[in-house]
Amino acid sequence: MIIVPVPLADRCYDVYVGAGTRHELAAVIPESARRVAIVTQAGIGVSVDPGREHRVFEMPDGEDAKCMATVEDLCRQFARWGLTRSDVVVAVGGGIVTDTAGFAAASYHRGVPVIHVSTTLLGQIDAAIGGKTGVNLPEGKNLVGAFWQPSAVLCDTEVLATLPPREYRSGLGEMAKYHFLGGGDLDSLPLDERVAACVGIKASVVAGDEREGGARATLNYGHTLAHAIEIAGNHDLRHGEALAIGLIFAAELARGLGRIDDARVAEHRRVVAAYDLPSTLPEGMDNDQLVDLMGRDKKALDGITFVLDGPDGVEITTGVDRRLIDSAIDAVRA
Ligand code: GLY
Repeated sequence: MIIVPVPLADRCYDVYVGAGTRHELAAVIPESARRVAIVTQAGIGVSVDPGREHRVFEMPDGEDAKCMATVEDLCRQFARWGLTRSDVVVAVGGGIVTDTAGFAAASYHRGVPVIHVSTTLLGQIDAAIGGKTGVNLPEGKNLVGAFWQPSAVLCDTEVLATLPPREYRSGLGEMAKYHFLGGGDLDSLPLDERVAACVGIKASVVAGDEREGGARATLNYGHTLAHAIEIAGNHDLRHGEALAIGLIFAAELARGLGRIDDARVAEHRRVVAAYDLPSTLPEGMDNDQLVDLMGRDKKALDGITFVLDGPDGVEITTGVDRRLIDSAIDAVRA
């Protein structure tokens, strides 16, 4: 087992990575907690034993379940059961569960501790780490939420073997991103160490900018085009698949701006191919539509905000000429 600290001054917590780490749950629950509310989904199929009085609260499957109604429903069930602020919520699942249960924990009684048992690769290296919680509104994704750091995160790599292949591959897209955020020689590492290395990169970015005043936005590397592809394609591509294309686009755009050279673009293409992820846009997406969607991203404060690689690493970049954007989009066409 590898323990990765998330070094937030007053709320430092540990992420436990390795096969079977879900069995550490009882050990990471504070002594003072009398009851444990376990939030999960029927299809997750991962059971945990918190070693004290507990009850399982199932939320529905699918992105639609990540909504205010589910948070209300969970909080009302917590209240009827008598959960108190000294008790604990444990989220067992992927990003939909940890985001929703995390937000319910942040809101209920003005905040009860939460522990995430993350069961997907995407969740283990991204969603469960760093304290972003929240739900969608009909008007857009993740529009309501809170920063609520977990007390611990268990990333059990044993359960990844049970993921549907496309879900696992989606996580690989997020893993590919970390190669360009200081991941160095991630290729050479076995899975547990690779997951721990990604967690370590995220932990250090979050520790430097917990509330995304600046550097945390670099974690969105590749996401500007990825979000546009997801919306334009009605979510036919999984997040990590769209992200892989977004990474190649970002590299091509950075090269167009003279920020990186041909070898660095080739490295992006090599990493994406090594994870067997797509590098070209699906049919039928035109440039105007994609540029329009990129401009509507909620992180776009002033025109389109890109996160681009360069001599000093990955940085926020604005004011990019439309012709360069078009060339970079054309470079990810089949
Ligand atoms: N998923 C990006 C972040 O946690 O900031």
